[in-house]
Amino acid sequence: MLGRLNHVALAVPELTAAVAAYRDTLGAEVTEPQALPEHGVTVVFVNVGNTKIELLEPLGEGSPIAAFLAKNPSGGMHHLCYEVDDILAARDKLKAAGARVLGDGNPKIGAHGKPVLFLHPKDFFGTLIELEQS
Ligand code: CO
Repeated sequence: MLGRLNHVALAVPELTAAVAAYRDTLGAEVTEPQALPEHGVTVVFVNVGNTKIELLEPLGEGSPIAAFLAKNPSGGMHHLCYEVDDILAARDKLKAAGARVLGDGNPKIGAHGKPVLFLHPKDFFGTLIELEQS
């Protein structure tokens, strides 16, 4: 079921500072910021060849990363995103195994224009997992 690591996501308090650090200090290729109001975040992707790093900044009231940043004010690793061939089949298999799917359990369209789901971190050793249809 589990495919490639699509990205590692870091929540950051200030996207412009994080972009400058990755682009200017680390010399990486960084995409333009993309606002995702449905997910409550603004994102950029850092291309590191074998995977991507997603930098997330809160967007709007009640952003799902606001509580994380309150606990980790300088930022931190927020989730891992794995690709799956069939997101609905993966969801059904995971739910049957007792894993908790966040939200209403239906995929939303993610930053790459593909359906995504999130799995409860308590079911996966303290790490929030995003699944993206490949
Ligand atoms: Co992500």
